[in-house]
Amino acid sequence: MKTLLGLVALFLSANLYSTEIISACYTEKSYEENAREKYRNPLSLMNEMRAEYSVKHQIANMHELKYDYELEKEARKMKTCAELKHGSNYRIARYKQDESVAVRDEFEKPSVKELHPFYSMYLEPLMTAFIRCNLTAKCEFPFHEGNRTFRHRATFIDIYGYRGTFSVSDFQRGPPGSKCTHGKTEKDLCIAPPRSEMETGGATGSGQESKESNIGAVNSMVSYLFIALTIVFLK
Ligand SMILES: *[C@@H]1O[C@H](CO)[C@@H](O)[C@H](O)[C@H]1NC(C)=O
Ligand SMILES: *[C@@H]1O[C@H](CO)[C@@H](O)[C@H](O)[C@H]1NC(C)=O
Repeated sequence: MKTLLGLVALFLSANLYSTEIISACYTEKSYEENAREKYRNPLSLMNEMRAEYSVKHQIANMHELKYDYELEKEARKMKTCAELKHGSNYRIARYKQDESVAVRDEFEKPSVKELHPFYSMYLEPLMTAFIRCNLTAKCEFPFHEGNRTFRHRATFIDIYGYRGTFSVSDFQRGPPGSKCTHGKTEKDLCIAPPRSEMETGGATGSGQESKESNIGAVNSMVSYLFIALTIVFLK
């Protein structure tokens, strides 16, 4: 009996200290170091793509992306592949990509005959924060193209803030950089306003999150109770 309870306690405490899914995140400095070697700095590359895209589609409110340590702190709350999903104020690249593609297609359709062949979250205009982090395990993100299903096995993830949603109304038409609230860059990208002004703040998003964290809290309380009881029994 004691052994069984001991095993239960061990199992539950292992659950409490579950392993991290996010290993290391790139910082602003590591992008620059990386850029000198093999790859180009992903942040400056994305901002170039954003600028080009807003010229092509005449988007007035495409924001500049910046590395953001606050977003990294947020991301580190995720512990498993299953937890790598959109939050109330951030979105994970490739998570439910089909839905994002549908929004992008709806936006592009009236103006172009040929849709952009690839979808990428870095073209979402209201995003201002970005981080890229390596994962400790391969996480699968399924998506569809035509009637084929693909499963992207990610070894790193890109996370964008501070919007939890993406819709056609995020795009404002007009000359690039003409609808910025805090000025624009040389490349006509909007300079990011304070985070609080950009957050989605929708009741559904935050409601969902608090419900999930409540479940988490109850789970750990139950675990602690089990451990406490086990200790009492073992005495
Ligand atoms: C992420 O993983 C790659 C490949 O293993 C490695 O080269 C790179 O340095 C890692 N990045 C960070 C920030 O640790
Ligand atoms: C789906 O697949 C079938 C057979 O592989 C093909 O004939 C059809 O054109 C495809 N449909 C679309 C929408 O791609």
